[in-house]
Amino acid sequence: MDNLTIDGVLRPVDWDDYVGQEKIKINLRIILDAAKKRGEACDHLLFYGQAGLGKTTLANLVAKDLGFNLKVTSGPALEKMGDLAAVLSNLEENDVLFIDEAHRLNKSIEEVLYPAMESRKLHLVIGKGPGARTVALDLPSFTIIAATTRPHLLSGPLRSRFGASFKLDFYDLKDICRIVKRSAQVLNMNMSDEAVEALARSSRSTPRVANRLLKRVRDFADVHDIKQVDKATALNTLNLLEIDNMGLEPMDRRLLEVIIDKFDGGPVGINSLAAALNDDVGNIEDVYEPHLLSIGFLVRTSTGRVVREAAYRHLGREISEEKLI
Ligand SMILES: Nc1ncnc2c1ncn2[C@@H]1O[C@H](COP(=O)(O)OP(=O)(O)OP(=O)(O)O)[C@@H](O)[C@H]1O
Ligand SMILES: [Mg+2]
Repeated sequence: MDNLTIDGVLRPVDWDDYVGQEKIKINLRIILDAAKKRGEACDHLLFYGQAGLGKTTLANLVAKDLGFNLKVTSGPALEKMGDLAAVLSNLEENDVLFIDEAHRLNKSIEEVLYPAMESRKLHLVIGKGPGARTVALDLPSFTIIAATTRPHLLSGPLRSRFGASFKLDFYDLKDICRIVKRSAQVLNMNMSDEAVEALARSSRSTPRVANRLLKRVRDFADVHDIKQVDKATALNTLNLLEIDNMGLEPMDRRLLEVIIDKFDGGPVGINSLAAALNDDVGNIEDVYEPHLLSIGFLVRTSTGRVVREAAYRHLGREISEEKLI
């Protein structure tokens, strides 16, 4: 089984395999059952949260639960009005349209989307200049599920057109352990509970990362002819990848060290930090920071980012008395 196939195989296709996010599952259950009972299209749904937490998986489960087709597109794919018109006019009754990276929809596309979401009308402008006119085409009933890692970039009017929005949270250790255990079973790996836990601890509380680490452990075990993956095998793999027991990668540690060494632990503004790291602001905000904030190694204040005591301890660095206050 190659690595791409593995990703497909590990993606849950049943609610039972979709671990955690209990509140979301309870709320979705009601929305889905109500829609089914009334025989109506389900309300439009918005899923947001960090990368790899299960938004796409959830959209697939919702479509499957409703028993309708899932059609997939994304913000960047809908560049021109015609792109969206093509997608909408190809919808069939009760289709679920998944729009990934919804924060990258541009304004003019959003404006065509509003009436489509609200009253199932596709407004098309025909012609140019003074002679241009708008025609409204009727669309079948359909459900939009949008996913985004950056909900604050969606315009207010777009956000308000979703019947329900759900924020996916980072997973607790127990849930990540369940995910790793299930994935190991699917891949026919023999893995001790300690090894599962070691991986889970380094997974940044994120299922996709947990599965990615598991694949690396599987490689390591196969190369070394290890039949029973124990904690040492897991830790050896993580060591090679330079991933520590808090899930920090070299770049995460560098970010913290730069703030400590160059900015005396902070506060430091995001632009100065990006310049010092020679990286871009988006990367810092989307890739490194969410995990560091969630484990309390970093805080955002009105004057900038500040490294917390726990991070100093983790890195084996001294923290001055005054910083402790
Ligand atoms: N609740 C869950 N239970 C079990 N496995 C999960 C769960 N959520 C996600 N996964 C696993 O993690 C992988 C990544 O999830 P998914 O692609 O749905 O994340 P995403 O939120 O859409 O990420 P992105 O923002 O990058 O698109 C899935 O393929 C699946 O194997
Ligand atoms: Mg996704």
